[in-house]
Amino acid sequence: MRVLLTADVHYNHPRSKPLARDLIDQMNQVGGDVLVVVGDTAVADGDSLEQCLLLFDFKGPKLFIAGNHELWTRSGESYAIYTTQRPARVRALGWHWLEADPFVAGDIAIVGSVGWYDYSFAQANLGIPLRFYRRKVSPGAAARLSEEYAELLTDTGDVPAHAMEIVARWNDGGHVTLGRSDEEFLDELLARLDQQLASLAHAKTIVAAIHHLPFKELLPPSHMAQWDFAKAYLGSDALGKCLISYPNVRHAYCGHSHFPCEATIGHVHAINIGSGYRIKAFKTLEL
Ligand SMILES: [Fe+2]
Ligand SMILES: [Fe+2]
Repeated sequence: MRVLLTADVHYNHPRSKPLARDLIDQMNQVGGDVLVVVGDTAVADGDSLEQCLLLFDFKGPKLFIAGNHELWTRSGESYAIYTTQRPARVRALGWHWLEADPFVAGDIAIVGSVGWYDYSFAQANLGIPLRFYRRKVSPGAAARLSEEYAELLTDTGDVPAHAMEIVARWNDGGHVTLGRSDEEFLDELLARLDQQLASLAHAKTIVAAIHHLPFKELLPPSHMAQWDFAKAYLGSDALGKCLISYPNVRHAYCGHSHFPCEATIGHVHAINIGSGYRIKAFKTLEL
């Protein structure tokens, strides 16, 4: 079985769109038995999702995973988009909403999740207190936008001086409305993933497709403090712990950071596909 995987197509983004078309053309030419798109195909508003998914000319099963950008909306409710609206739109196009139903073919299974973050990847050396991560703003940015974030700054005794110089925001803060904490959302995703993996004990090989990073080994190297702040939002240790607890999970594919990377963690070969706005990539897995 040949599995083709890509991520971070970002089809609604004007500069990304022509590159996305080239990528999809290439994937159509290569072909395979199963196609997996691992999140950040298009934001929730508008019809970029339909425009993009219809470009794939692929006879076999087409498996879809949401990314955080699938939950981005100006006027809607992200949680309802994720649980109801997005699955309906994906299924209407003949694609498989993988998060609800794992794909099984013989002794091979593919499971998926948007994954999320619980700040377990927050970089301790930055010394940024959790309340800033929860509001998706760094101390320096909160100080510059002081009215909106005043309550974060009433007592800055726990904020080191260097953290007050970090100016960054994570854009999920302005675009995603979950109606629950990030940790609660991740717990919900983990419970489902765990249940699905437990039900696949008969599978010899499981491939996990998770938009956010399941292992810290896939984090990009340290760069600027702004980017180190953003690492808190790239994924969670709990995702990897869940995968590693099942010996038949052999492959894990993610996207989200746009940083190509591979690592072997125990019995799991983990790959960040490394697709992004300016560079597109896909992977081929022969099983
Ligand atoms: Fe992305
Ligand atoms: Fe993403």
